[in-house]
Amino acid sequence: MKLAIVSDIHANLAALEAVLEDIEGEKVDKIYCLGDVIGYGPDPRECLELALDFPINLLGNHEEAVLVGAIGFNPKAKAAIDWTRDQLNLESEPIEKNREFWNFLGRLKRSHLEGDFLFVHGSPRDPTREYIFSQDYQDRKKMDDIFACPPGVDWRVCFTGHTHFPGIFSQENPYKFNDPASLSNKFSLRGLANRIIINVGSVGQPRDNDNRASYVILEEADVRFKRIDYDIGRTVDRFKDCPQLPEYLARRLEEGK
Ligand SMILES: [Fe+2]
Repeated sequence: MKLAIVSDIHANLAALEAVLEDIEGEKVDKIYCLGDVIGYGPDPRECLELALDFPINLLGNHEEAVLVGAIGFNPKAKAAIDWTRDQLNLESEPIEKNREFWNFLGRLKRSHLEGDFLFVHGSPRDPTREYIFSQDYQDRKKMDDIFACPPGVDWRVCFTGHTHFPGIFSQENPYKFNDPASLSNKFSLRGLANRIIINVGSVGQPRDNDNRASYVILEEADVRFKRIDYDIGRTVDRFKDCPQLPEYLARRLEEGK
């Protein structure tokens, strides 16, 4: 089976379309999305419409915030959440379509287990909200706890998003983190002795100083990290149509951070 795993689209339609075009060329069987289709960006409805077709969509913290409130969000992220919620209630759009989006959000799962592959937005310990930052490999207690969660689930490889930093955490002594460049953008799951956590990066708001969209291909036991150029100017222009969205959110796309 060949899978494309995407995450953190963040209502960036130009980035999502570029990634979907690349995925089409990859001829994958399925696309899995690890959450945060919306939030931050100017095209939540269009991105949700495309995500409706993915067979697996998980709950991200931004979907959770739209549903139940932006608890713990910074003011800029909260402004975008409030604006996004309004977009999904637009009276100028058919009420059935608005309902379809809300039903989709309300049904999102927090995790997905398939064989020994676990899929979450944040971490195995807190599938929606916990960040595993690249430097956390040095925090032995945090890594021990995260790698032991959830209790009783026999996973071997966990795919996450949320931080917008792609790379692989390995359960070794000591723990290790490798960014995609240090792995030549590929990794084999054959003969893995320990668990690993693979962050697929962000489609719509990369933060690792590379402004290209990030996603991952999983083909049998081979993982490939991909970066895709997209028309950032198109998304930045869309921000200009949405004055309620903080301008900083457009600027960070150009900088990739
Ligand atoms: Fe995110």
